[in-house]
Amino acid sequence: MSQLYDLCALDEIPRQGSRVVEAPHGDVAVFRTADDRVFALDDRCPHKGGPLSQGMVLGHRVACPLHNWLIELESGEAVAPDQGCVRRHEARVDNGRVWLSIEG
Ligand code: FES
Repeated sequence: MSQLYDLCALDEIPRQGSRVVEAPHGDVAVFRTADDRVFALDDRCPHKGGPLSQGMVLGHRVACPLHNWLIELESGEAVAPDQGCVRRHEARVDNGRVWLSIEG
């Protein structure tokens, strides 16, 4: 089952930054890119659990703050040669609001 949240206004998330949401299964990081897309991933790097929300957003990727793995925001996949995948969630912008759908 998924739950839909009206999270916040888009402007409440800094460009190339993120916001953390507490979900029943753990924290979810919602990222805003420089071109105003939003993406949501579990806030746990697939390497050793680093907080992706504190990483730097580069294009449509985030660099983990612990060991700099790059994670694709769209898929949650680590960029080769690193291997791993973090769970992603649906996020979209509608009328200037950010909507997040979290799989339970
Ligand atoms: S924990 Fe993210 S790169 Fe190591």
